[in-house]
Amino acid sequence: MEGLLQRQRGVLLRPGQPRWRGQDGQDPQGPPAGRRPAPAGRGALTTVPGAGPHALPDFPWDSLAGARARAAQHPGGVVDLSIGTPVDPTPGVLRHALAAAADAPGYPTALGTRELRQAAAGWLQRRLGVQLADPLGAEPSVVPTVGSKELVALLPTLLGLRGRGTVVVPEVGYPTYEVGAVVAGLAVHRTDTPPERPGDTVLVWLNSPGNPHGRVLTDAQLSDWVAWGRAHGVPVVADECYVELGWDVVPTSVLHPRIAGADHTGLLAVHSLSKQSTAAGYRGGLLSGDPALVRRVWEVRRHLGLLVPTPVQAAMAAALADDAHVAAQRERYRARRELLAAAVRAAGARIDHSEAGLYLWVTRDEDCWTTIDWLAGLGVVAAPGAFYGPAGARHVRLALTASDERIAAAVERLTA
Ligand SMILES: Cc1ncc(COP(=O)(O)O)c(C=O)c1O
Repeated sequence: MEGLLQRQRGVLLRPGQPRWRGQDGQDPQGPPAGRRPAPAGRGALTTVPGAGPHALPDFPWDSLAGARARAAQHPGGVVDLSIGTPVDPTPGVLRHALAAAADAPGYPTALGTRELRQAAAGWLQRRLGVQLADPLGAEPSVVPTVGSKELVALLPTLLGLRGRGTVVVPEVGYPTYEVGAVVAGLAVHRTDTPPERPGDTVLVWLNSPGNPHGRVLTDAQLSDWVAWGRAHGVPVVADECYVELGWDVVPTSVLHPRIAGADHTGLLAVHSLSKQSTAAGYRGGLLSGDPALVRRVWEVRRHLGLLVPTPVQAAMAAALADDAHVAAQRERYRARRELLAAAVRAAGARIDHSEAGLYLWVTRDEDCWTTIDWLAGLGVVAAPGAFYGPAGARHVRLALTASDERIAAAVERLTA
């Protein structure tokens, strides 16, 4: 524990003492030394040395243009399952609360309203069995975020981890973990198991249920990471934005007492209303856990003006207090998943993991671009697994975020 506290003191911004890139000895025109280059290839997530001050990864979706054009030629029209953007209507409980809070002349706070923090704490307790330290106290244990993507991309920066060290990310994972490391001038190490030695690791990202493969970390895996992080003084952050979408298993939060123990020291969890409440356009997310870490993030967010708009905070509070709309949406996804999974298997492909979340992780034991071309011939667009890391290069990701009509069209084509 002492290690963690020392490490936190060492890496976090002290109030009033921001560090700037130049002060870290970083070359603002080049990538930080020691970063592992991602392998190149069609659509691979690739950091580009010298491409700019931060050498961000390529934005890979453009490489799907050919498959998209081919799929669009299908007489029944394209079924685009490549991007996980919700398509069902945002539930009334959010829309009404948003509209009722439309009169918002004053600035919102970065901390969020009492109602929102209380609703977030209630949801965490009710749905995930997580007891926050003191959501309304002087040391906040939860803050709202502008969706979770900005938080994922900014977290290393907000924690003051700029310019030295390595961020551990899942072997196959959501690309924004790497983006956040690159923006902060940090190296990236992809692994699903705690490294033997901590080296210069400054942050660990877990993602359960995972994007793209829908894998859920077991209690033992979560506990191993928590023990490793605490032993080496490295914060462990779990992105749990699909936590309400467990199919074959019930996902456990890293903040659950079975995993975290008596308190949340060194741990953070990220949640999002985008998928569970069909509200990606609202941009509502949450960061919760260790009050010392949440406080650091909150303090910097205040300075940056990273504020969730007041009407969205009201909609989030209403959504987090209502389980019925989440359950209804879950049933829509469950029905689509069952139909699509059966059709994928009938077509001779295999589905790996996918026990939770919004995607099917599909393989025909071939290069993902061959599978992409096969699907494009059926008028279906998928996401190539290589987008998510080299170990994903023989899978494609099919999103469940399409209308019933489009899912039925995909099923018909796959089983014809
Ligand atoms: C694993 C993961 N984390 C975070 C996000 C960001 O979601 P949002 O910004 O809508 O909360 C996504 C979006 O697809 C995701 O898949």
